Amino acid sequence: MKAPSAVIVLIVCLSAATPLLASSAVGDVVGKLTVGYQGWFGAKGDNSPHNSWIHWPHNSDHPYKDHTNFEIYPDTREYTHTYQTGYANLGNGQPAKLFSSWDKQTVDTHFKWMKEDNIDTAALQRFASSVKRDPIAQKSLNGVADNVRAAAEAHDRKFYIMWDISGWNNFATEIIEDYDNNIKRLVSSKAYAHQNGKPVVCIWGFGFNGRPQDTKGAIALIEHFKQQGLYVAGGVQTQWRTDTTAWKDVYTKLDMLQPWTVGRYGNIKGAEDYKKTLEADHNTLKQHNIDYQPVLFAGSSWSNSHPASKRNENPRVHGDFMWRQFVNVRELDIPSCYVAMFDEYDEGTAIAKAAENKSMIPTDQWFLTMDADGVAVSADFYLRLAGDGNRMMQKQIPLTQTHPTKHYP
Ligand SMILES: *[C@@H]1O[C@H](CO)[C@@H](O)[C@H](O)[C@H]1NC(C)=O
Repeated sequence: MKAPSAVIVLIVCLSAATPLLASSAVGDVVGKLTVGYQGWFGAKGDNSPHNSWIHWPHNSDHPYKDHTNFEIYPDTREYTHTYQTGYANLGNGQPAKLFSSWDKQTVDTHFKWMKEDNIDTAALQRFASSVKRDPIAQKSLNGVADNVRAAAEAHDRKFYIMWDISGWNNFATEIIEDYDNNIKRLVSSKAYAHQNGKPVVCIWGFGFNGRPQDTKGAIALIEHFKQQGLYVAGGVQTQWRTDTTAWKDVYTKLDMLQPWTVGRYGNIKGAEDYKKTLEADHNTLKQHNIDYQPVLFAGSSWSNSHPASKRNENPRVHGDFMWRQFVNVRELDIPSCYVAMFDEYDEGTAIAKAAENKSMIPTDQWFLTMDADGVAVSADFYLRLAGDGNRMMQKQIPLTQTHPTKHYP
C-alpha cells in the first residue's frame, strides 16, 4: 500500500511544480471539432457575380471531361438548386448536375448536416486571389460568407474566418484591410466562434516552402489582431517544432497551432507513426501555453486535376484511416481537432455527402467513389464518422480502436 501513495504524493508534487500548463478551457474550438469549409463552388446560371463554373472545372467555363478539377462527385440529392453540366448522365440515368456555394440553400444544407452529425465549428477559407485582386470574386466571397453566417445561426453551429496566404505577398497588411472591411461585420453574429471569450481568426500557411516568407509581417499581423481582442490561430507547416528559421518566432506568438498533415502520411501505418509527432507537438505547446489542434483527414487524391498523380492516392479504407487519427487524438488526450475539409471535393478530402458508387457519377468520367476500397458505405458515412470521432475525443463514448460507425446507417 505504501508504494502507490508515495507515487501519488510524487505526482501531486510534480504537477504543482511542473511548468506544463493545461490547454485553454472548452470554447468553440478547444474541446470541439472544427471542419475546414471552402464554400468556393460556382455554377453557370447561379446568378452570382461570376455566374460561371468555379472550381468544378479548371481554366474552363464548362465542367467536362478534359477540364475536370475535382476528384469526388458530390451527392446532390438534397439541394434545391443544381446546374446542368456537360457530362453524360449519371450511372442511374439522372442528369449530371452540380451545386453552387452561392445558393443559400446549399450552404444551409451543409450546416444542417453539421448539426445532424455532431460537427461543432466551420472555418471558412479566404484566399488572396478572391479577397484582393478581383472585385467580382470578392463580392462572391462575401456573399458566401453571408450564407455561412445565416446557416450557422439557423443550425446553431459556429464559424470563423481562416485566411490562406498562399501566393499572397502582401498578406500582412491586406488581411487587416479585409478584416476591417469585410469580416468585422460577421464577428457580431451569435454564431461567430469564440475562444477564451475572444472571436477566433486563423491564418494558414506559416513556414511553408513556396509560400510568402514575410516573418516580420506575420508577427505584426498576429500582434495587431491580438490587440484587437482576437484569438489568433495559425495553420503551420508540419515540421514547425524543429524549424530553426525566423518562422520559429512566429509560431510562439500564436494562441493556437494547427500543423498541416494532409498528404504527410497516407495510410494507417503512417497515421500510427505520426502519433509520436502529435505527442511531441502537444508537449512543446503545453510548455508555451499554446493550444493545439491536430489536422485529420479522411483520405486524399487529386488525379483529375493532377493527371500525373495516382488515383485514390491516400485511400480512405472505408473510414479506418481517419478513425486511426481520431484514436491518436483520444489516446493523447488532445482536446481539439480539425478535419480537412468539409467540402474539399477537389483534393478528395471532402467529408460532405458524396457519390457512393458508379450509379451516382457521370458515365463518361472517372471519379473516386466511396466504395473504392472494396466496402460500400453511405453517402453520409464520413460525416457520421467525424461526428463519432468528436464524441470519442470529448469522451462521450469510449475509446475504441475500430470505429463504432456503421457503413450504412
Ligand atoms: C450504389 O448506391 C446506390 C445509392 O445509395 C444504391 O442504391 C445501390 O444499391 C448501390 N449499388 C451498389 C452496386 O452498391
